[in-house]
Amino acid sequence: KKVVVLISGRGSNMNALIEASHDRDYPAEIIGVISDQADAPGLKAAQARGLSTVAVPRSGFSDKPAHEAALVDAIERMGAEIICLAGFMRLLSAEFVARFEGRMINIHPSLLPLFKGLDTHKRAIEAGMRVHGTTVHYVTAEMDGGPVIAQAAVPVLPNDTEASLGARVLKAEHAIYPLALALVASGKAAMQGGKTIYSGLE
Ligand code: GRF
Repeated sequence: KKVVVLISGRGSNMNALIEASHDRDYPAEIIGVISDQADAPGLKAAQARGLSTVAVPRSGFSDKPAHEAALVDAIERMGAEIICLAGFMRLLSAEFVARFEGRMINIHPSLLPLFKGLDTHKRAIEAGMRVHGTTVHYVTAEMDGGPVIAQAAVPVLPNDTEASLGARVLKAEHAIYPLALALVASGKAAMQGGKTIYSGLE
């Protein structure tokens, strides 16, 4: 399956997906990377790996629908069958989401449905959580609310800071995003009736 990754920044999850896809048996191929930030470090990294990259900055468009139309155009021009959001820091409209329903997935740094939105590591520490983690889910119109595909948990240690906990979660993200994409690309996970259904997993 042909995959396009949407990023806004560093792109470490994008890198993990690219690395995984180099395996001959991996069911997905990363064909391109699109960023809404022209100076995203991840764009340079993707270029250096020979992938096609496009920057589609919001500032180049008069309104959100025009910007999203340009994003759709870039995605379709690349021939994407699956879209992976990886640190793409922009809320997508219901129309955009509907167009790619069941084919667009996101990684979020918490065990959803806990801690939707931003500052998840800080909020997990403040809440006194002893476990935290990361979730890959289908993207629906509800922010961080789509059906879960895969999760990984990590411990919250007594002296953790936002940074130390964040680093532990990020490591888990790099392991689980490629696994979740493989499930989707191979058809072993699919979104049906607002839920994830699994098949062919023994
Ligand atoms: C990750 O923590 C991801 O879960 C969140 O944004 C961060 C992106 O990091 N959505 P990177 O750009 O993949 O390094």
